[in-house]
Amino acid sequence: MDSVSEYYSATQLRSDRWAALRAAVSAICRETSQAKIKNYSDEVQELFKALSRIEPYWAFPGMPAFVHMRRQFDNGHFEDVAFSVTRVTRALTTGSYRRRSIPLERDSMDEEENNDEALLSPEARAMTRPYFEVLIVDNVNDQQERWIKSNMERMRRIEDPFHYEAVVVPSLEDALIAVLFNHNIQAIVARPGLTLKSRNENELLKKYLSHLGSGEDLDNLLPENYGAELCRLIQQVRPELDAYLVTERSVEEIAGLDLGICRRVFYNQEDFMELHLNILRGVGARNKSPFFTALVEYSKQPTGVFHAMPISRGKSISRSHWIQDMGAFYGPNIFLAETSATSGGLDSLLEPSGPIKKAQELASRAFGSKQTFFATNGTSTCNKIVVQALVRPGDIVLVDRDCHKSHHYGMVLAGAEVLYLDSYPLNEYSMYGAVPLREIKHQLLALKAAGKLDRVRMLLLTNCTFDGVVYNVQRVMEECLAIKPDLVFLWDEAWFAFARFSPTYRQRTAMRSANNLRKRLRSDQHVAAFEAQQKQLEGASDEDLLNTRLIPPPTARVRAYATQSTHKTLTSLRQGSMIHVNDQDFKGEVEQNFHEAYMTHTSTSPNYQIIASLDVGRRQVELEGFEFVQRQIEAAMALRRAISSHPLLQKYFKVLTAGDMIPDCYRQSGVSSYFDTEQGWTDLWECWERDDFVLDATRVTLAVGGTGWDGDTFKNQVLMDKYGIQINKTSRNTVLFMTNIGTTRSSVAYLIEVLVEIANELDDLLDDASNMERLAFDRRVANLTENYPPLPDFSRFHDGFRPDNLTPEGDIRKAYYLSYDEKNCDYLELNGSLKAAMEEGKELVSASFIIPYPPGFPILVPGQVISREILDFMRALDVNEIHGYRADLGLRVFTQDALANLVSDKTIQTAAE
Ligand SMILES: Cc1ncc(COP(=O)(O)O)c(C=O)c1O
Repeated sequence: MDSVSEYYSATQLRSDRWAALRAAVSAICRETSQAKIKNYSDEVQELFKALSRIEPYWAFPGMPAFVHMRRQFDNGHFEDVAFSVTRVTRALTTGSYRRRSIPLERDSMDEEENNDEALLSPEARAMTRPYFEVLIVDNVNDQQERWIKSNMERMRRIEDPFHYEAVVVPSLEDALIAVLFNHNIQAIVARPGLTLKSRNENELLKKYLSHLGSGEDLDNLLPENYGAELCRLIQQVRPELDAYLVTERSVEEIAGLDLGICRRVFYNQEDFMELHLNILRGVGARNKSPFFTALVEYSKQPTGVFHAMPISRGKSISRSHWIQDMGAFYGPNIFLAETSATSGGLDSLLEPSGPIKKAQELASRAFGSKQTFFATNGTSTCNKIVVQALVRPGDIVLVDRDCHKSHHYGMVLAGAEVLYLDSYPLNEYSMYGAVPLREIKHQLLALKAAGKLDRVRMLLLTNCTFDGVVYNVQRVMEECLAIKPDLVFLWDEAWFAFARFSPTYRQRTAMRSANNLRKRLRSDQHVAAFEAQQKQLEGASDEDLLNTRLIPPPTARVRAYATQSTHKTLTSLRQGSMIHVNDQDFKGEVEQNFHEAYMTHTSTSPNYQIIASLDVGRRQVELEGFEFVQRQIEAAMALRRAISSHPLLQKYFKVLTAGDMIPDCYRQSGVSSYFDTEQGWTDLWECWERDDFVLDATRVTLAVGGTGWDGDTFKNQVLMDKYGIQINKTSRNTVLFMTNIGTTRSSVAYLIEVLVEIANELDDLLDDASNMERLAFDRRVANLTENYPPLPDFSRFHDGFRPDNLTPEGDIRKAYYLSYDEKNCDYLELNGSLKAAMEEGKELVSASFIIPYPPGFPILVPGQVISREILDFMRALDVNEIHGYRADLGLRVFTQDALANLVSDKTIQTAAE
């Protein structure tokens, strides 16, 4: 029997146990040796026992059917059990139980075959009613359970848009386990008889409970408050669900309680129709996609087109003699839905008042923001919009230096004084981690000491980074607000939209952290803690402040923005992105400027298909985001596990763990690997709650230096050319495999197969290699794994772009525009004139952004002094693409004259002041 800790998720454990049960029962049917039958029978009994702890949380096959199977087995009806178990296993794998009832008795075979879903056309399947499960929480006996279920079944009507089945569990703990485990649950009904504790003693399920971190208070709860507490706790882990509270308490008593996700309170236990209609309405509200629906409706209307867009209605294509293939490829609907009209039931993205407005409001609810805005040209644009809306020329912005280039360009446009923050380097793998909180606090304290804190406007960080390093968002905001209580945070969550739908990951999203923080700042405990800390910190030095976990004042303003490339991690067409706002001062101070910034950067012809896909993408995650993200994490974990435990793969590859990518001092949990061949899975929850940085396990960085190929060669010449596997990020000696909500267990299996094949080929190659070839291989490996160029820090802005020498911020816009005059610039060759000039002691300053790819962030920005370390790094970089660098001319730098003029202008200006 597999140990529980070998499974990352209980869902996977469940399906594997059903598969094992099927194999064991089938073996008994075939076997003749009594000794072997005995062995298999023992295994079956163990599997039944294990499943008996899991099945009460699922509607299919349901406990009565499960108990029946077990009884049949005890009575020796092996063929019948084999039949039923096979049916269950297949239905669980294909999900067919969601679309029709699955008969488990052998004599129901014919009926089943006739009903086979393979016979249904895709359209017919799409039209079958979506299925979900409703969790009833009540401590009832079998007979009462049957009564509740049959009452609910009696409410079904032919016109119901959805079909659901009920699962009944007795206690609050069981209900929490169920919502964390069963992704089919969309609604919860807490009835007055619910108890507190689960009777289910199960290691894996207990793990789920520990995630709520509130176990200590539950024991003191009065039984009449269990229902309300359940609604509140579910809000922490699955905020998208609907709960209904059936109570015998008075309206007045209920009114004072925090009811979390409770949509409605019922005072009459027996009003099943009311409950049924509410359940359907609740799920229906999430299932709406107002803009997509409007677009579908619009495309059905006959219209005469007397505006731009000949492609609209496909007219320019259907009449063409040459481009019919385009029409055939895309099909008619996309052209019927192409229009530049904003009327006829549609809406304008620039001034939404109809279905786009509604779609944005639904997205805001789903992602936990106060306002959400759609963008049809990617997060690159979202970043510029937010920066322009908030930053005035001369404002100081703290920016993570290896952030996406859109931020750097945004800083140029806004005219910000940029203070670049250095991330910790991972020299061994030629990549950066993230910015330590100590570094951010240190810079804020220095700005304070220089009397510049009032000009500090924003902190801009990437969460998570391309390589998967995730900040402790709430802690960063808390400690920064303790120094600068109205600081604005822009969290670039281009890669993190999916995080909202995993209870573990959600803790580290900007919107959840902002909401938590708003609540916390208002609490009495917080006020007391703040006052106590203030007393303690009287006369504290900066070093003390750096070493203390700072508490923000209760009057601090929570001002968080998150930009997300929905298209990168969720369902959306390319360029579909969202801006989520959770800013207490948005309405008063920002709204108008935000509108202008949005106008500045948004096309007046935004693409309707992208907007519709954002709307549908939101609908999907509200209904099945939890399931999809859970499966994604499972797939990534399976990949990590398979590579880490495969002896052949270990020879050439290594999956980088949290310990490899995050230094010890930032991992307070002490956990260095989320999977260990000896101990199995570590529970991520604790690390995600405590550590300064955690690793997003869905992004799997594979060190490939052991193969003798650098990351780029491995990507292009091995993975892509030979096996058709696409990836997009490499470093000198690593490649990054990103899983997403579409990644399946079989795609993971294919990747493993490919890696094994590569490793086998390398083994063969080395077996046959001559001494010289072997030596050359070892050298290549050593070069990639031992001789790595240290990653340079941001050097500094040249004095001509800095207001003073007190703090390091610089005027990037001034530098950027200085280069517009050709006279101010010169080109120097990396290995020739540049090196010589540096040796002469000249200060060389970049006139452009220089962005090697990989790693893909600027190694130099306009106005930055070129240090020896940067030069060495550039020379050691063996990448083909260096944006901004002209191989024929060299590096673009400012002339010494231009720099001298700058400094003398500055001296005159300072003297005049
Ligand atoms: C951190 C980060 N921010 C922003 C972007 C830009 O996103 P988009 O492609 O949606 O414009 C990217 C793109 O890779 C990114 O990695």
